[in-house]
Amino acid sequence: MKSQKKPAVQIAFLGSGNMAEAIIKGVLDADLCKAPALMASDLSENRLKTLHQSYKIRTTHSNREAVREAELVILGVKPKTVEAVLAEIRSELGAKLLISVAAGVPLSRLAAGLARESQIIRAMPNAPAKVQIGATVLAPGKGVDAAHLKRALQIFDAIGKTWVLDESHLDAVTGLSGSGPAFAFVMLEALADGGVKAGLPRKIAQALAAQTVLGAAKMASESNEHPARLKDFVASPGGTTISGLHALEAGNIRAAFIDAVEAATQRSKELGKT
Ligand SMILES: NC(=O)c1ccc[n+]([C@@H]2O[C@H](COP(=O)([O-])OP(=O)(O)OC[C@H]3O[C@@H](n4cnc5c(N)ncnc54)[C@H](OP(=O)(O)O)[C@@H]3O)[C@@H](O)[C@H]2O)c1
Repeated sequence: MKSQKKPAVQIAFLGSGNMAEAIIKGVLDADLCKAPALMASDLSENRLKTLHQSYKIRTTHSNREAVREAELVILGVKPKTVEAVLAEIRSELGAKLLISVAAGVPLSRLAAGLARESQIIRAMPNAPAKVQIGATVLAPGKGVDAAHLKRALQIFDAIGKTWVLDESHLDAVTGLSGSGPAFAFVMLEALADGGVKAGLPRKIAQALAAQTVLGAAKMASESNEHPARLKDFVASPGGTTISGLHALEAGNIRAAFIDAVEAATQRSKELGKT
């Protein structure tokens, strides 16, 4: 019987936690790669076992082995572990593309841990990547070629939508799309509380709030209309919606959201300096 040769590893994940799993799922669902072309590396045996059982991907405890086998590497460890992993893989990476999702770790810090020829992209995805409605911004480092950027776009498009920006925007991106899901969860909770106050059962109120915000977000994302115009379409003269909008304005809702994004952006800048 002929021995079956394993296919080449296309993507290695160093640190295979929540974000890596979201990307693994997205890449497989989008059929960008077959399962044996993905390799997850992690410290935890249990984590690797779960990923292998769920997705049939290859696994290893050795970051170096994963990098050696792969064409492209996704760094998915926590920011405080980045330097240690870079030191481990530096001699194996060569000119392969490394995409780091580590929040707040600048390209300069990544480049400092690697050889001069390394191609690096800093990515800032967000939590809804888990349900493949993520928002990711890619900031390519110097010398990243068009083919590598195209591949990175394909990968992150598999977990939502992707934009390419200069790295100087990433603190603001962190403040808006990085922290934004938490702001939206507070909004959902508050809308549901409003429904409960008006007499709805809690479960129904939560479901209605989530579906309403999902629908509004889909309309806004699929339309070329300014959100203010979409709001005007649903606010009929003398109706219920304009009364509610007046209450929101009295509660200074716009300033609260602007302040939230600004505060998160500021905090991202502070953390980047430490
Ligand atoms: N989750 C998000 O929504 C989100 C959004 C944007 C950016 N990010 C970024 O994505 C990165 C990962 O976040 P996450 O939420 O996926 O974290 P996570 O679930 O904690 O995943 C990190 C994984 O890396 C493993 N690890 C630790 N040291 C390692 C090493 N030396 N070699 C290989 N693996 C190692 C951890 O194992 P142990 O648990 O055993 O330590 C863990 O399984 C972070 O840098 C974060 O800033 C996440």
